[in-house]
Amino acid sequence: TRVAIVFGGRSTEHAISCVSAGAILGALDPDQYEVVPVGITREGRWVLASGDASQLSINDRKLPEITAASGDALVLAADPTATGLIVRDAAEGVSELAGVDVVFPVLHGAYGEDGTIQGMLEMAGIPYVGANVFASAAAMDKEFTKKLAAAEGIPVGPYAVLRAGTSLSEADKERLGLPVFVKPSRAGSSTGITKVSDWADLDAAIATAREIDPKVLVEAAIVGREIECGVLEGESGGAPEASMLAEIHVDDADWYDFETKYLVGSRYTIPAGVPDTLARQVREYALRTFTALDCAGLARVDFFVTAAGEIFLNEINTMPGMTPTSMFPQMWAATGLEYPKVVDRLIRTALH
Ligand code: DAL
Ligand code: MG
Repeated sequence: TRVAIVFGGRSTEHAISCVSAGAILGALDPDQYEVVPVGITREGRWVLASGDASQLSINDRKLPEITAASGDALVLAADPTATGLIVRDAAEGVSELAGVDVVFPVLHGAYGEDGTIQGMLEMAGIPYVGANVFASAAAMDKEFTKKLAAAEGIPVGPYAVLRAGTSLSEADKERLGLPVFVKPSRAGSSTGITKVSDWADLDAAIATAREIDPKVLVEAAIVGREIECGVLEGESGGAPEASMLAEIHVDDADWYDFETKYLVGSRYTIPAGVPDTLARQVREYALRTFTALDCAGLARVDFFVTAAGEIFLNEINTMPGMTPTSMFPQMWAATGLEYPKVVDRLIRTALH
């Protein structure tokens, strides 16, 4: 099977995508898969990258990056003579993506996890791993995730949506209370998020979030445990399956920010130390969120659970981090599916 691993990309999560891709490249059985590693630079240029996974990791807090110098330039072109997308080696005119059986878009955030590359692959008729156009777009946008989940009866916390040019009303300040989290509506890995404990800091936080997305969410902080669940599409058309739950302990950090996620590292417990009935309910909500948004392939669904046992959906990620320390592969390993098996299953379900 010829599989294109597409990674890097134009989003704020470029580096994390590189680290996820490095782990996936290292997990693919070379006897079974012929890999075409396609990197996308921060500017959006496509390059035929080296498949050297060792360059795609975080070393000494230095984040990896795909640049134009990372490999030969590729040009994207529609193929006028056949269904398919041609990604040509600019210099030699060699088609690279023509003839791939499946694309694994290991892209996090905008232009990758949001339905854009999925749309391109649909147009080209190339199978791909993960959620389709609609689910990707809906899950990328925290406003619509909440609306669709709430319509299914999945509890979401109090929030306000600030569209471009608008600010938080006094009534919303009263309703949400302090502290709040100010987030770009479409981003990931905690980029652009600020915890605000004084309304005097609100405008600066909104400005920070708007550097990534003109649409901003202000969410009431939920005091509780941070619990996550991995979901995989069922095999052979079966129902989706939920992993064991993980609980994140941010310890000294105030909240689960980028630094804590990838640079310092956080402690976690699998399975999460919550009572069985509560764990069952969280897994059921995770599966229902996956289904409500029409997801495919994989997703990680994140929740808050309060001391009183209330559960709130935080968000869903249709291309969750797949780095060696990421929660999605850890949760599945604890559930009995090791990393290479997860990757293998994702490719098989995409081709199914
Ligand atoms: N957005 C990051 C990659 C995650 O959800 O793991
Ligand atoms: Mg996310």
